[in-house]
Amino acid sequence: MGDEIVISVLEHHSNIVPWQLLAQRTGAVLRWFDITEAGRLDLAKAEADGLINERTRIVSLAWVSNVLGTVNPVAQIAAQAHAVGAIVVVDGSQGVPQLPTRVSQLGADLLAFTGHKLVGPTGIGVLWGRYDLLAGLPPFLGGGEMIEVVTMESSTYAPPPYRFEAGTPPIAQAVGLGAAIEYLEGVGMEWVAAHETEITAYALAGMASLPGVRVLGPTEAVDRGGAVSFTLSTTDGLEIHPHDVMQLLDARGIAVRGGHHCARPLHARLGITASSRASSYLYTTTGEIDALIDGLAYVQDFFGRRA
Ligand SMILES: Cc1ncc(COP(=O)(O)O)c(C=O)c1O
Repeated sequence: MGDEIVISVLEHHSNIVPWQLLAQRTGAVLRWFDITEAGRLDLAKAEADGLINERTRIVSLAWVSNVLGTVNPVAQIAAQAHAVGAIVVVDGSQGVPQLPTRVSQLGADLLAFTGHKLVGPTGIGVLWGRYDLLAGLPPFLGGGEMIEVVTMESSTYAPPPYRFEAGTPPIAQAVGLGAAIEYLEGVGMEWVAAHETEITAYALAGMASLPGVRVLGPTEAVDRGGAVSFTLSTTDGLEIHPHDVMQLLDARGIAVRGGHHCARPLHARLGITASSRASSYLYTTTGEIDALIDGLAYVQDFFGRRA
């Protein structure tokens, strides 16, 4: 009793809902980091509130935000978490595709990421974990392949990772994910990270040049990934709904996403229901960013009078 799980307000729903389910099952309390005006984790407030303390059992954070683009100081927070004996879980779904990954430097005890964010297939992801932790976990799903010996009375289980891989695996997806990771390693994750920074800086500068664009999250490409979410108003200050932005840009061949990006609590925290998000990756060019900025000006023209 009294156990606490610490997450942050900027998490993807996939790093909120499972902890809520666990808290409901166990009676643990869910607590979270707030964010600053600049869209970074509010470490000072967390310190003042004693967010990580002797009751903390798990700290689970996104490495990189899928909305704000913020790169969180995971290693620093992991050190604090480990000092009180907590386990550190890292959602690497945005971080692993964009940054060179060294789990030990990150301070992660468990690191999860999804295949389809790193030019791989859907329907598969990766959970990396410290072996001693994985070996202590019971299976979460029963079936073939995860067993050692089965009798009619009981079963014993294979060691990790097989214990967690009940049933026929998604073979095609696993082969596809392996190929994607080899491809990215061939390109070089240092190069991918540098390219992301360059394109993101270019996009942020372009957006800063357009009145009526409010970038959510850090406005400089420092400790920042490639997701640039924003709200858009006409130059006479009328808000344009992200779904309208998305549709008009789509008609010009520019794909942005509109909505809450599976981060509803973050949008509520920012006082908005939705945002538009432009995401770059290793294939994005500055010419495409120019087209996006022109497109945004077009959307502003469409809905209002430009000064
Ligand atoms: C930060 C982050 N976490 C988790 C996810 C969830 O990925 P999936 O739905 O593939 O499990 C995503 C992407 O959708 C994400 O961007």
